[in-house]
Amino acid sequence: MNWIKQFSLQNEVAVITGAVGGLGRELVKILYDAGANLVLADTDIASLQLFAEKIDPLGQRVLVQQCDVTNEQDILCLIQKANDHFKRIDVLVNCAGVLGPDALLFDLTVEDWDRIFAVNLKGSWLTSTHISQYMAAQHIDGRIINISSSLGLRAQLKRVAYASSKAAVEHLTRNLAMELVQYQIRVNCLAPGWMNTPMVEGILNGPDGKKWRAAIPMGRAAEPSELAGPLILLASKASSYMTGTVLRVDGGYAYCGIELPESVF
Ligand SMILES: NC(=O)c1ccc[n+]([C@@H]2O[C@H](COP(=O)([O-])OP(=O)(O)OC[C@H]3O[C@@H](n4cnc5c(N)ncnc54)[C@H](O)[C@@H]3O)[C@@H](O)[C@H]2O)c1
Repeated sequence: MNWIKQFSLQNEVAVITGAVGGLGRELVKILYDAGANLVLADTDIASLQLFAEKIDPLGQRVLVQQCDVTNEQDILCLIQKANDHFKRIDVLVNCAGVLGPDALLFDLTVEDWDRIFAVNLKGSWLTSTHISQYMAAQHIDGRIINISSSLGLRAQLKRVAYASSKAAVEHLTRNLAMELVQYQIRVNCLAPGWMNTPMVEGILNGPDGKKWRAAIPMGRAAEPSELAGPLILLASKASSYMTGTVLRVDGGYAYCGIELPESVF
């Protein structure tokens, strides 16, 4: 048996939302290198086009589609585009997400709360619902990967809405997995910790960066490329007996006690 072949995404089609985010771009490159054809979705169409030209200059394996994951019509157009061009969708990665402001409980606004939940939770649910329905109709053994965070498990000051939304994404994963098992569609969740990406670089390179790094058992943030193994595992047939799982890739951050910088109080 050639076990390594199980990790290949050759001839498969992956849709990824939030595809031009700091982490999204890295996940796209990993899926591309694993052999997948890709449909990249994001609200930022100009960045999508530039990025696609960069990673796939011949324009044969990568399509782009402007898509707001909170908008049902946009998601239906995304599926239509994938179907028109590639005739299938094997993998969905729900990577669109927003962190929201650094706000203690009393300072968080209703607008911030609603926006964070709309993109992180509703967007993951809505995209998964429509794409899994498409996969089921086509009899595709699909794989859906939600993106959570260490904060889906642990609490952190100034992140009440973001952390709650990510905890909900993890439970969404379990519920989708349960409902979709009858269609041979598997749903798992990747929960990164601190990554060297623009979303958190400001914090890591700021005055309290050293303290935040000290709170990570491995003592450092991850390079996004360190998600390659876990992502390809969940996206490929190599994880054929995994569904409803949350895979934490965070240097031990979610499970360790945190030493909070005094300045956050
Ligand atoms: N970067 C990290 O360190 C880190 C750590 C843990 C988890 N995550 C999670 O990974 C995911 C991606 O993070 P990132 O670093 O790429 O963030 P980012 O802020 O760099 O990018 C987010 C992307 O999502 C897009 N987006 C926002 N709202 C959207 C919507 N309604 N519809 C479609 N696209 C939308 C943005 O245009 C952007 O391209 C998020 O869910 C985030 O919570 C990131």
